[in-house]
Amino acid sequence: MTSILILNGPNLNLLGTRQPEVYGSTTLADVEAMCRAHATAFDLSFEQSNHEGVLIDHIHAAKGVHAGIILNAGAYTHTSVALMDAIASVELPVIEVHLSNIHAREAFRHKSYIAPVAVGQICGFGAQSYLLAIDAIKGHLKI
Ligand code: DQA
Repeated sequence: MTSILILNGPNLNLLGTRQPEVYGSTTLADVEAMCRAHATAFDLSFEQSNHEGVLIDHIHAAKGVHAGIILNAGAYTHTSVALMDAIASVELPVIEVHLSNIHAREAFRHKSYIAPVAVGQICGFGAQSYLLAIDAIKGHLKI
């Protein structure tokens, strides 16, 4: 069965208690359960790290194992050339995801280093952004 990696970056382990007025009250474990229930067509791996290098290692390790990546890089979205290069290097389809609408927030969040190397970006739908990303990668991979 086709396998997809859902990769979450810094501070997303705190979902549910972290600024619920921005990110909602759904925990990362809830998001994982929602994704597993939604993604019946493929196997899911779900990872989170607060460390840029660990996220890069997960992206490298995905090549040859996963058919694509759904990535919420958290604040590294707006800073990390290294994550952008890692995605470009593995040549796997990446769907960029955010719970909040980064374009409606502070100006520094409008810039994404992930967007130029992603198939597309989904943001602003809370936890549902991940389910939309699953549908998007399913359509992109024609699963
Ligand atoms: C986020 C948006 C980022 O700007 C922020 O740094 C996060 C979460 C989101 O899912 O809305 O950590 O990626």
